Amino acid sequence: MTRSVTVRVPAKVNVQLAVGGLRPDGFHDLASVFLAVGLYDRVTAATPPPGAAPAGPRLTVSGPDAAQVPVDRTNLAARAAELLAARYGVAPAVHLHIDKDIPVAGGMAGGSADAAAALVACDALWGTGASRDDLLGLCAELGSDVPFSLVGGAALGRGRGELLTPLAVGGPFFWVFAVADGGLSTPAVYRECDRLREAAGTGATAAELPAPEPSPALLEALRTGDVAGLAVALAAGGSSNDLQAAAVSLRPSLAGTLRAGTDAGALAAIVSGSGPTCAFLAKDAQAAAEVAAALRASGTCREARVAAGPVDGATALPG
Ligand code: C5P
Repeated sequence: MTRSVTVRVPAKVNVQLAVGGLRPDGFHDLASVFLAVGLYDRVTAATPPPGAAPAGPRLTVSGPDAAQVPVDRTNLAARAAELLAARYGVAPAVHLHIDKDIPVAGGMAGGSADAAAALVACDALWGTGASRDDLLGLCAELGSDVPFSLVGGAALGRGRGELLTPLAVGGPFFWVFAVADGGLSTPAVYRECDRLREAAGTGATAAELPAPEPSPALLEALRTGDVAGLAVALAAGGSSNDLQAAAVSLRPSLAGTLRAGTDAGALAAIVSGSGPTCAFLAKDAQAAAEVAAALRASGTCREARVAAGPVDGATALPG
């Protein structure tokens, strides 16, 4: 009988995040161009020892930011295990261990990644035999970014981000991620985006604003592996990320981080998702290493990491 399953799952960057107006259900319609990048969490699901089985999932976390990760049922990975167990009528007895390398609350979908990985790991451990479509449905119930963490690669996300169309990418593309001290709350950043839109007089609701659309130039640059074209598309209109102004408004120091990366030779700089991680596009692996070194020396971030994308989504490691 299988005693433990480990699943590796990547972080994401939104190469574009076009945010429509606030919907009556509290979400925003998106056109989100997701790219999975090679920064990984590892989630291990293990059968608890006989007699020690708790009522629900038990969670432990390791890694440099482990102290910031909740280990109770507010953790999305624990909720994922409970949801799968409830749907398939099995007891949610599992020890989940998260080996965390994706920045916490950084706008790189770390919590969503752990949820997708927990679903895949528990499905294998319990032998529930969920189909890919069943897993994707459960992912969408757990959060807007969770389905993409399952599939990885690159995809256009519509709806609130959960309705995915895979995208062909001629990459790899090389990125540097500047990790900030402390996270930003995703709902707070969306609220700030709404507030800035109200203040600018454009209105903030889905009834007042046009539907968000992906940039054809950006999709074409991704498809053809055109790094210079992607850099232009990332910078078009100020930023391809409609949440960037809100993240910078809540964390003004991010303006200095973005500037430090472009000063260091990055081809383009954007806030990753709802931030505060900043993402810098580099010409190649060598240029990315140089930008990372300059960012570390600039003192405008806690840490700078190099990663390329696209990479595969949640994948069980050979056990
Ligand atoms: O789906 P998820 O749980 O990740 O969303 C967290 C919060 O982010 C939502 O409660 C909402 O405030 C905001 N959000 C949004 N529109 C989206 C996705 C998230 O307003 N498309």
